Amino acid sequence: MTATPINFQVSLTDTAKRLDASCDSTPNTLHGGKAIVARGVEMVFQNGSQKYRALKDINLDINQGEVHLLMGPSGSGKTTLLSILGGILTPTQGRVCLLGHDLTRSSRAKLSKIRLKNIGFIFQEFNLFPALNAMENVELALEMKGLKGRAGRREAMALLEQVGLAHKAKSMPRDLSGGQKQRVAIARALTGNPEIIMADEPTAALDSQSGHAVISLLRQLAKERNRTVVMVTHDPRIVDVADRVTYLEDGMLQADGLLQNRSAIH
Ligand SMILES: Nc1ncnc2c1ncn2[C@@H]1O[C@H](COP(=O)(O)OP(=O)(O)OP(=O)(O)O)[C@@H](O)[C@H]1O
Ligand SMILES: [Mg+2]
Repeated sequence: MTATPINFQVSLTDTAKRLDASCDSTPNTLHGGKAIVARGVEMVFQNGSQKYRALKDINLDINQGEVHLLMGPSGSGKTTLLSILGGILTPTQGRVCLLGHDLTRSSRAKLSKIRLKNIGFIFQEFNLFPALNAMENVELALEMKGLKGRAGRREAMALLEQVGLAHKAKSMPRDLSGGQKQRVAIARALTGNPEIIMADEPTAALDSQSGHAVISLLRQLAKERNRTVVMVTHDPRIVDVADRVTYLEDGMLQADGLLQNRSAIH
């Protein structure tokens, strides 16, 4: 794979750093809108009397339909930021708007509804239920979103087909390869047709070939269905399939890069 040159366009000006993110200005439009806007986000963890500032003044725009990577050294705050962007953690300061919803001013119950409807999560360790086969794992997620019975089974199979795994529908997770398990996890994340897919190091447990296949699939989903993919990764090879990369270091945003020269994408 050829390395893709990155032309950094540091786009966050002082003006953009104002806490001016009106969630109304991020309408849920399918074209050209902002999927997520974060302004002045800070996260301080407190363990007893010890405080740790994991994120400092993060200002970030994620466009609808883009594959957006969060990169940076271990401990730089990537998972914390992804959790805040996905409404799993509430920042100690700042504001996050997701598809017009103000995550930082929503109750826990509302956040849970927003997540269920709009976001599909994918984790490094797949998090499949070991006692359920591939199809049942997807069916269970559909059930949580209100689709049960025959319609649920039909949809589960359609989703497994989309990720190229219909032939393994009856296989138990222990009989699937890492790449296949991650495909089941992607099918599960696609239940309910969410606008946004969030993934925390989805290829870390995979060999390079299956890792690349998983990433290509996520990119294809983003482009063919205009879905937004926000992905934490350490893997520099994944940069090839991204539209934009945000680098974090020590809890601070370093640069926001627009990737050009897409010739290396496949
Ligand atoms: N619940 C918590 N309580 C206290 N400190 C935390 C908590 N969660 C994260 N941290 C600290 O915040 C910092 C950022 O953690 P985070 O998990 O976001 O890093 P990361 O960039 O995802 O790292 P890695 O690449 O190793 O997964 C770390 O120093 C971590 O120890
Ligand atoms: Mg992490």
